[in-house]
Amino acid sequence: MTQIGADIRVAAAYLQAGNVVGIPTETVYGLAGNALNPDAVLTIFRVKNRPAFDPLIVHTDSLAKVEQVVTDIPEPARRLAEQFWPGPLTLLLPKQDQIPDLTTSGLPTVAVRIPNHPLTLALLRSLDFPLAAPSANPFGYISPTTAQHVADQLGDQVPYILDGGPASVGLESTIIGFEAGKATVFRLGGMALEDIERVIGPVNVRTHSTSNPKAPGMLSSHYAPRKPLILLQPGESPQPDAKAGALVFREPFGGIRSDNQRVLSPTGDLNEAAKNLFAHLRALDSLPVDIIYAEPLPNQGLGWAMNDRLRRASVQH
Ligand code: TXA
Ligand code: MG
Repeated sequence: MTQIGADIRVAAAYLQAGNVVGIPTETVYGLAGNALNPDAVLTIFRVKNRPAFDPLIVHTDSLAKVEQVVTDIPEPARRLAEQFWPGPLTLLLPKQDQIPDLTTSGLPTVAVRIPNHPLTLALLRSLDFPLAAPSANPFGYISPTTAQHVADQLGDQVPYILDGGPASVGLESTIIGFEAGKATVFRLGGMALEDIERVIGPVNVRTHSTSNPKAPGMLSSHYAPRKPLILLQPGESPQPDAKAGALVFREPFGGIRSDNQRVLSPTGDLNEAAKNLFAHLRALDSLPVDIIYAEPLPNQGLGWAMNDRLRRASVQH
């Protein structure tokens, strides 16, 4: 059985013993283990049922600790780190040998991030190792944004879940890599592109999945609810359907029962919408509906990343 609580010392004790623990972050909840301990990392892969070719993100609480696990921080990466950490941004940097190959799936780079959550920052400060933490969902399902989501899906296999309340951003971190000093976005996420470009200028965006993706989180099977989801075109409304659910931005659709609809942000606030996205998708998935219609969001700010997740969760129509 799993225990949900807010005691950093309990979480730290499990982690020191090589166990995995659910941790809150501002983006989504993570399934954390000692990033330097291959046994703990193996447990993460096993609990998530995650293929070994999909590398993990390493979390620390300071740039000084990041410098202990990477060999170089290119200039634009340093500017982003100074501006946005702690925050919903992950940087791909060349790894030091002490990071096990298992953690990075054999890649020469390690994904690193300083998460912006007071409990997890305090936990990281109390540990003498960094934490590898993928999102705490079974591979391929929607990411968890509350401790209860983690308990519902992985409960039996995780002894402790540190409860830090609902995630304040609600989308996984934006992932950026560097080639010859030039930045490329590999996953759209909780840090808006506009904010990144304000600091380092125009960036490449390469988030399409291939057979050997650099950020395998971009595989289209990711983030999917169990019910079929149809992503509508801008301005399109679904046909009336008593057995359909809908995820809408500001206002419910006519023709769909109102108790089968979830509104992301009545005031049209994209940050509020992002915060609600995964919880609303989960709620719709558990309603007695046969299909879920989703309205696309405006392509600005966090809208880009939300549309990306909805596209990956959707079936063709
Ligand atoms: O917001 C987040 O990033 C959350 C919280 C818990 O920090 N974590 C998260 O982890 O979303 P995960 O494992 O669900 O997604 C990490 C993504 C994966 O798509 C993985 O392929 C990619 O990061 N990744 C990790 N290391 C990489 C590397 N060295 N090169 C390319 N992609 C990498
Ligand atoms: Mg994930």
